[in-house]
Amino acid sequence: MNKIRLDFAAASRFVDAKRVKQLYEKLPGLKLEPELLRQVVQPDERTYLQIMASAQAIQQESEALLVLGVGGSQGGAKAFIEALNPKAMPVYFAGHSFSGHYLKALLEKLEHKDVSVIVISKSGNTAETLLSFGVVRSWMQDKYDVEAPRRIYAVTGKKNNGGALGNIAAGEKYNRFYIPEGVGGRYSLFTAVGLLPMAAAGINIDEILAGAQEGLKEYGITISEESPVTSYALWRTALYHAGYANELWVTYEPCLNGFGNWWRQLYVESESKEGHGIYPVVAEYTNDLHFLGQYMREGPRNIFESILWLEEAPTRLPTHPDTATMIGWGDVSNMAAVIKKVMEQTASAHNEAGVPQLKLFLPKLSAFYLAKLAVYFATACLISSGLQGIDPLNQPGVEEYKQQVRQILK
Ligand code: PA5
Repeated sequence: MNKIRLDFAAASRFVDAKRVKQLYEKLPGLKLEPELLRQVVQPDERTYLQIMASAQAIQQESEALLVLGVGGSQGGAKAFIEALNPKAMPVYFAGHSFSGHYLKALLEKLEHKDVSVIVISKSGNTAETLLSFGVVRSWMQDKYDVEAPRRIYAVTGKKNNGGALGNIAAGEKYNRFYIPEGVGGRYSLFTAVGLLPMAAAGINIDEILAGAQEGLKEYGITISEESPVTSYALWRTALYHAGYANELWVTYEPCLNGFGNWWRQLYVESESKEGHGIYPVVAEYTNDLHFLGQYMREGPRNIFESILWLEEAPTRLPTHPDTATMIGWGDVSNMAAVIKKVMEQTASAHNEAGVPQLKLFLPKLSAFYLAKLAVYFATACLISSGLQGIDPLNQPGVEEYKQQVRQILK
């Protein structure tokens, strides 16, 4: 009950058993990078204390937090903050776009609030983040004058002194954090990249680190055939080989959309190489069933669902008794009961209509289990890429895009 479980029964009839066996046989020969995960979930004592002290300072002097970054430098913190809804202060995100319209509206919203800024870029040279930070930096200077740098926290890699962002941070003496060498953007959730915004927002990062450690113990060291993390990697690969090239990651909780987006980035950037890769899509059921329901029941049979289900409902909000009586419904006394019935019925209808399914059961919505789930997905991603002979740690296509943007702007 306390473990993350995977049920692949609704996928097995769609794949050739021989193919699954072949994939299982590949497992012992796989070389993982457990060192990477180990490094990521153990911030050193000094960094941990620095994160805690900075989070406290931010909470004491600010009413709102602005986090700038893109891709792996933003997605993890955004996912956890959206999912867990911490109460220390509202958190806003920017630095992921060239939209002046977006940034202007955001700064207008923050005009009368005391603000701290966390700017994150491993390379320190990412155009969206740098350009947005330029605007925010001068806005902070106008607002706080010489006090501005004290309210700005920069997270960068060490290479090239943290690039352009690192140079500004050094020149203006911002509070500084570093991303350990060898940790890629999308794997950096448990470094200052994710932990600093989470802690400042009011999430208990001890729980996060405990969940990540437990996940690492359970999934990160050895690849066992019985492990639910291996099964996820293996079954999605088998489905891909059987022609199901699209994976629809499904949540019934709107607060988990951001987590889905983090998952999407992790997988697509790690695996889509050399003409291969599963196309990842995130769906929020039941909202998206009002259009995707059509595709799932009658569209091409090239998609499988990975359904994330919370075993313990986060809330059992009672419905109004009149609603059921009025419409003549049975037991709809609380919304959690309704959602469960709808999930079960929808899953079996889609499956009958030819959609394979992997069902992932998370014990409950908490910092601990979300962190464990993040390690689950990161480890599965390394195994899944390994099964397809792909290096999950590079992203040549993304680098080419970033390079081209810098070129154009020159
Ligand atoms: O996972 C990755 O490597 C990317 O998504 C990066 O995180 C993203 O491009 C941002 O890069 P940087 O942190 O260098 O600004």
